[in-house]
Amino acid sequence: MEDRIVSGETQREEEWAELSLRPQRLSQYIGQQTVKENLTVFIEAAKMREESLDHVLLYGPPGLGKTTLATIISHEMGVNIRTTSGPAIERPGDLAAILTALEPGDVLFIDEIHRLNRAVEEVLYPAMEDFCLDIVIGKGPSARSVRLDLPPFTLVGATTRAGMLSAPLRDRFGVVSRLEFYTHDELTEIVTRTADVMNASIDKKASKEIARRSRGTPRIANRLLRRVRDFAQVRSDGSINDKITNEALELLQVDKEGLDHIDHKLLLGMIEKFKGGPVGLDTIAATIGEESHTIEDVYEPYLLQIGFLQRTPRGRMVTYKVYDHFNLEVPDV
Ligand SMILES: Nc1ncnc2c1ncn2[C@@H]1O[C@H](COP(=O)(O)OP(=O)(O)OP(=O)(O)O)[C@@H](O)[C@H]1O
Ligand SMILES: [Mg+2]
Repeated sequence: MEDRIVSGETQREEEWAELSLRPQRLSQYIGQQTVKENLTVFIEAAKMREESLDHVLLYGPPGLGKTTLATIISHEMGVNIRTTSGPAIERPGDLAAILTALEPGDVLFIDEIHRLNRAVEEVLYPAMEDFCLDIVIGKGPSARSVRLDLPPFTLVGATTRAGMLSAPLRDRFGVVSRLEFYTHDELTEIVTRTADVMNASIDKKASKEIARRSRGTPRIANRLLRRVRDFAQVRSDGSINDKITNEALELLQVDKEGLDHIDHKLLLGMIEKFKGGPVGLDTIAATIGEESHTIEDVYEPYLLQIGFLQRTPRGRMVTYKVYDHFNLEVPDV
């Protein structure tokens, strides 16, 4: 994937930065009101009954706070969190090793859970349902299966693509929550909080401007803020106002809607080569030299959200908003 300021990929520099920026408690987690209210009740109830929290599946586009929420759940429950990811668990034995090392009540966080392989998934079913492992000992006719008890635990799964989860796995989650894009107000709050944590001074107009261009995504808001802060430091006295923000974002080629050169390539390509569509995802992908699942997971959700793209049975279409955005004349149909 081409490097881009608004991409959903986590880079090294950020992994460190993100650790300190992550809210630790549900009360510090901004937005996602429904998810938060539900989780508050479920966590409270589980604690009252002194049980482990039911398994939780979090899904939604990258950078909306799934990993953050998983960590918060473990904090609120007062338990440890073990973190792994779908592709990292190669064999059933790998998962068995992780599960048997859990302490009662622990949270096991599996990121990219849609990428677990079949054999591993099958170990997970009885573990989730009955807190036990079925282990086969020996080979051939003398093989027998032994049942091993596990401590009760909470599986928190995260995925950008709930549709790719197998039905039996999805059905074993008691709580299934979809994370939504954040509003400008929520993102403004997040930018203000992050600036505070970083000891950067920023005015309200600047926070709003960064929020507006962050594609509804906290990770992008934090990333843009860091870059704008660099500009403020080098080109001015360090304090972030809307003038330096606009200048910086212009240089970073993030437009007023938060779109960058890849979004531009995609949308303008659809207009120039396909009269605005409908055009199939794979064709779009080939035209701009990206993989179609990257477009589907990373680029497209926000364009759909702001009504720039439409999905039709015959493919994707740009809407009149795109013509407006680029000051182009809407063609007659
Ligand atoms: N509700 C929130 N309030 C404040 N900050 C948030 C919130 N949600 C996310 N963030 C910040 O956004 C960044 C990205 O969040 P996180 O890593 O949890 O996203 P994710 O959904 O796990 O992304 P991915 O799908 O790429 O794994 C973190 O630095 C986190 O601090
Ligand atoms: Mg994550």
